Amino acid sequence: MIRIDILSATPELLESPFSGSILRRAIEKNIVEVYFHNLRDYSTDKHNKIDDYQFGGGSGMVLMIEPIDNCIQELKKSNNYDEVILMTPDAKLLDQKISNKLSTLKNIMIICGHYKGVDQRVRDNLITMELSIGDYVLSGGELPAAVLCDSIIRLIPGVLNNETSALTDSFQDNLLAPPVYTRPANYNNIKVPDLLLSGNKSKIEDWREKKSIEKTKKVRPGLLKK
Ligand code: ADE
Repeated sequence: MIRIDILSATPELLESPFSGSILRRAIEKNIVEVYFHNLRDYSTDKHNKIDDYQFGGGSGMVLMIEPIDNCIQELKKSNNYDEVILMTPDAKLLDQKISNKLSTLKNIMIICGHYKGVDQRVRDNLITMELSIGDYVLSGGELPAAVLCDSIIRLIPGVLNNETSALTDSFQDNLLAPPVYTRPANYNNIKVPDLLLSGNKSKIEDWREKKSIEKTKKVRPGLLKK
């Protein structure tokens, strides 16, 4: 059982990704436990304030350290976290290798950044890792946290019906996945490659590898250099 705690200023944004399909099933099968924590519940301010203006001036609100620290300390009373991860666009990029590694852990805490950012003292003192899901800025860390959780949870044994299917995903060997086809074999005269209908397993495997390499060279040549 892996336990994931997510700290957020808007936890309602997290609900739908976890309430459908594979993630919901993983939770129902008791393979993963996911808990959302509203940072406002850990504010000591009478208006439940969790953000403030930045010192030195400048636009945008900054998430304060106190509610985050209060929430983390409360959770640490009952759990030992392997990683405390801050989702923020100004961080190292998430990739399949990181997801693979995180999928082997037992307790993960994820903090969703917000507004202009998070007080640097959180980043310097309270977390173990920072991750971005891509070089673009979203309104908050909730969708990135859901993306991270999805990429981790689907790798845990027992979550996907067909265990091998995560192993042949794109990126598992720094290659993009080959094209896939299903019925009908001929759709309005647009045809599936003959080889795939031949039943020749080893030729099909060679073809898939060739297509993977071609596609990676064309659209993501940087992956081949890794
Ligand atoms: N918060 C806002 N944008 C983000 C991104 N690209 N990755 C992670 N967290 C974010």
